[in-house]
Order: sequence, then structure tokens, then C-alpha cells
Amino acid sequence: MNFQIKSIEEYNAAYQKSVEKPEEFWAEIAENFQWKKKWDKVLDWNFKEPKIEWFKGAKLNITENCLDRHLKDKADQPAIIWEANDPTEHHRVLTYKQLHQKVCLFSNVLKNNGVKKGDRVCIYMPMVPELAIAVLACARIGAIHSVVFGGFSAQSIADRINDAQCEMVITSDGGFRGPKDIPLKNVIDDALVQCCSVKTVIVLTRTRTPISMIKGRDKWWEDEIKKVETLGLIDCPAEEMDAEDELFILYTSGSTGKPKGVVHTTAGYMVYTAYTFQNVFQYQPNDVYFCTADIGWITGHSYIIYGPLAQGATTLMFEGVPTYPDAGRFWDIVDKFKVNVLYTAPTAIRSLMQSGLDYVKDKDLSSLKVLGSVGEPINEEAWNWYNENIGKGKCPIVDTWWQTETGGIMISPLANIIKTKPCFATLPLPGVQLMLVDEKGDEIKGNGVSGNLCITFPWPGMLRTTYGDHERCRQTYFATYENKYFTGDGCMRDEDGYYRITGRVDDVINVSGHRIGTAEVENAINMFTDVVESAVVGYPHEIKGQGIYAYVILNKESDDEELTRKDISMTVSRIIGAIARPEKIQFVKGLPKTRSGKIMRRILRKIAEGDVANLGDTSTLLDPTVVEDIKNNKI
Ligand code: PRX
Repeated sequence: MNFQIKSIEEYNAAYQKSVEKPEEFWAEIAENFQWKKKWDKVLDWNFKEPKIEWFKGAKLNITENCLDRHLKDKADQPAIIWEANDPTEHHRVLTYKQLHQKVCLFSNVLKNNGVKKGDRVCIYMPMVPELAIAVLACARIGAIHSVVFGGFSAQSIADRINDAQCEMVITSDGGFRGPKDIPLKNVIDDALVQCCSVKTVIVLTRTRTPISMIKGRDKWWEDEIKKVETLGLIDCPAEEMDAEDELFILYTSGSTGKPKGVVHTTAGYMVYTAYTFQNVFQYQPNDVYFCTADIGWITGHSYIIYGPLAQGATTLMFEGVPTYPDAGRFWDIVDKFKVNVLYTAPTAIRSLMQSGLDYVKDKDLSSLKVLGSVGEPINEEAWNWYNENIGKGKCPIVDTWWQTETGGIMISPLANIIKTKPCFATLPLPGVQLMLVDEKGDEIKGNGVSGNLCITFPWPGMLRTTYGDHERCRQTYFATYENKYFTGDGCMRDEDGYYRITGRVDDVINVSGHRIGTAEVENAINMFTDVVESAVVGYPHEIKGQGIYAYVILNKESDDEELTRKDISMTVSRIIGAIARPEKIQFVKGLPKTRSGKIMRRILRKIAEGDVANLGDTSTLLDPTVVEDIKNNKI
């Protein structure tokens, strides 16, 4: 592997080359992978349609790169180490050879059940190795996976299955998360009432929760594996995929309407996740790498599965939560497996910080070399706590900024190469051309400035479309500013040229690192029988980064406000999932609207933040007295 950057000089040279000769730059990196046929053209693009094609004409299968090619020299090296939710349950280790075998077997299960190249498969599973196996098996036969996070409701799953017209669902009887047992198959049963496209459901045994199994549709994972074994279908040749064939769909929330299916394709995504994994974390052979994300999110896709496995790394997967059985669980895992690289989220750090140092003090964390952060801005206090108490001042913290749409890390220090600074994602990775712009789209030049963060040139890991609706992709990301990808984030560039992400500038709330669209939550609240109208904003939350604050107009006064709040919360839970439940619900008589009927969210945001002295100009409001009423009844 010859794309590892080893010094700041090499970083500077790589960056410069990536801007001056991007095609040559990425072609050299791509030479490090296994291709069935090399590309005819490295890049073809325009941001107008948009059309982005990387490594055009190349043929490959990503699982040959993540599995087969490591069998020569890493067959017996652990590919996945899995730690169960319950610390007394034995952990599992899958070597590259074993993982390869299991992926091949399950690929044959998929084929045996009629899944073909291009078919969509929905995966709704707990964090067990079989989830990674299912993902890789889809990729091996060319089926497009759509993983849905275990916290989403039946309605959300149904919407996602219908949007992608999935043919199959892979799930389990249930999942363990901390003290809870999550009834995954029951949720799928509820979802499937609305989904005609699904012909087969494969159900893994995990919790032994009683579930329904429908004849002809539902099949046990274990039985299906036995079937293909009996048929002698052990090996499974990897399907030949085009560089731009769709690899997966992952739904994410935006500022309007329903979630979008972000589409990533094969070759560019593979090259980008592997390259960024290697360089950001400076992964060394035999290091144990632990990313605490769930595979239901992009971080899990890119940096538990594809990036690390493409690099032949040992990736640790954890089924549970950081606070179970106590707030020392991450540190127990680091100690038990001698973890070298730990990649987690600010929300987890803040919650563990609050639990105190008793949970850290007797743990041996000396194996740690690199710490990572992702998903939301990390506040200085959390950064310092992480640095001092976990990294013992010796481990660089890579604060990695990126998005579902970017596929991989875009701005981050490279461990031990780029000097870190608390709260700063620091510098763009090679291949990433950033621009700060003002509201009109004009570039804001120089240092010590702030603006909206755009990207001006394609990178291999970027999204290609939003599933089934290319126009929506154009509108959302490429129409705000001409010829630029707009991230939706605000950003400052300090005197050293370092970048600091300040948060979303659109109507998206980042709760515990999860993106939630205000419109989506409002739609769910408005489904509640007594609600006339609602407006949702984010407010600063000590642990979650942001919390959801809802202003709600009821059609009649509630005789038990607390109960009505719970009812509304339950409604949101049913429609989206528990992650979207508002923290605070304030009943109001009216919402601040302009004369043209637009809700002035700026004012609602200020009130939710507790900054009532500073509401700015309210003279354009239709009825300024509503603001007084909202202010006086703030919770
Ligand atoms: O606002 C940024 C924030 O998370 C958003 C992307 O969310 P999602 O697509 O769910 O992906 C999360 C994991 C990559 C961004 O638009 N964000 C992500 N990482 C950071 C961040 N904000 C500040 N600092 C970060 N390191």
C-alpha cells in the first residue's frame, strides 16, 4: 500500500497534486486495489445535472477488495472482533478467512432466495457480525443494501422500503441494547403491512423473543444457511460490478419533506473510504480499531465495514451502549482488546464525562494511540476531557467532519501529522477543495472569516444521486450555489487557515450526532389528533448537543398538559422513531408569522435557546403579541 501519508510535507505535496492533477492523483491511489478491469477514464463530471463518474469503465467487486485479496497474507488475522451487549457473553472473533466463508455462504442464501444484481435489500438488524455479513453478501452479489437503523419506527421503515422497492428484508428476532430487548421482527411485521415489494424476510436468531413467522415469506437465517451448505453452495464468486454500479442507499434527513435515499456507488466509495481510513487514523498492521457507531449510520458503513476491511484492518464491533452495564463500558472494551484507535461521538464523550472519572481510573488505556470524534461539533470541555483522561495527553484527537453524502471524511487532522486544535476539524484531506461563501454565493477569501461551507470539485466518495429522484439531489445540494456542492453547514476559517464547523445553517437539528429534519418532526406532531400547527427548532443540550423544542398549537385547551405532551411524544415515536421525540413541548396560542404566513424560526430558536432579550426585529410580524405570550410561557 503506497498511499499512506507520513509527514506534513507529504500531506502538502499530496494536497497540491490532488488539486493540480486530480485524475492522476486518484488514479495512483486506485492502483492499490484489485480490479477485474481498469478504468477507461478517471473522472467525468459536472455539478449542473449533477453527473459524477469516477473510474469509468472499470470492473470490480468491493468484497474482493475487502475480503478475498487479504486471504493471501491475512487469512488468520481477525477481521471483526465482536463484543456483546452483555459483558458476560463471550466475544466473537472472525478472521478474514472465516468472514470470507460466511459472506460467501450468505451470498448464496440471497441468491437461493431469488435476489439478483441490482435488487434492493433492506437490512434492519442489531449490531452483530451477521449485520456486517449481510451487508457484504449484498455487495458480493451486486444487490443494493439499504440499512435502516434499529431505532426507526415501522412507519419509517415502510417508507424506506417502499421508496427503494426492496425485494427482501433481513432482520432478527430482536436486539439487545443496554438493559433493553428491542423487538426488531415485530417492527418489521408492522412495517410490511404497507409494503408489497417484499417477497422474503430472513430472520436471524439473537434474543429468542417470541415472534411471528409467516409461511412462504419469513425464513430463519440459520435454516437458510444449512440449506445452501447441504446443496454444497459454499463458495460464491463475486459479481462483476461496474465502477458506477450502485452499492448502497442510506436514508438521511434534510430540511424539507421525507428522508432522502443517498446513493453511493462502488469504485469511488471504496477508494475514498480506504484512503481516508488509512490516512486519518494512520492505521498500522495489527492495530485494533474500534468505531463505536452503529452500522445503521454512514459512519458504520464507511468506518466499521468498508474502509477498515478494504485496508485489511481489525475492526471491533460493539453491540451495546456506552453506559451499560455502567459508564465504564468503552474503557473495559479498550482494556480487554487493547484497542489502539478509538473513534466515537461527542455525545458519548459528554455523557461519559458526566458520569465521572471513577469509571475510567482503573482501566488500562495505554494501548490507545489515536482518538477520533465524529457526527457533531465537539465542545472544548469534551475535547479536553477526552484528551486528558482517555488519551492521557498522548493521543492526537482527529475531529473528523463529513456527512452521509460525502461518503467519507472530508476535513480532519491526519493523526500525528496535522497539529490538532480543540474544536477544529483542521484541514481538508487531499482531494477536497473547500470554499466558504456568503448568502449570495460569493467566495469569502482569506483567513479569520466565516461562511457557508461548499465543495467545488468532485471527490470519489461523494453521493451520485438521491434514490429515484435525481432532481431532488440537484435541488438539495447543487442548486443553492452554482457549480458547488453545498454542505448545509456553517464554518469558520481561523487565522491559521484551520476549519471549524459551527453547525447546520438549514432546518436540520443534530441530536446526538443524528440528523433530524424539523419538517419531518412537525409533520409527525401534526398527525396528533388535537394539533392545529407546530414549529420545531433545536436548542443547546448538554449531552445531546442539540435537543428538539416543539411549539404546538392545540385545537382545544388540554385538561392534562403532561399527558398530552406524552401523547404527542408517543405519536412522534410511532411515526419516526424514538430518536425524534421532542425534549420540550410548549403549548402556544399562535406562532410568530410574517404577513406572508412564513413562520419566523429565528425568533423561536432564540426563545428556545433562552436568549429572549435579543429577538431582533419583530415588527414585520403579523401579530407581535404572540411572541410575548411564547416568551412568558417558555419551558
Ligand atoms: O453538521 C455536520 C455534522 O453532521 C452532519 C452530517 O450528519 P450525517 O450525515 O448524519 O453524518 C454524520 C457522520 C459523518 C454535518 O453536516 N458533523 C459531522 N461531523 C462533524 C459535524 N459537525 C462538526 N464537527 C464534526 N466533526
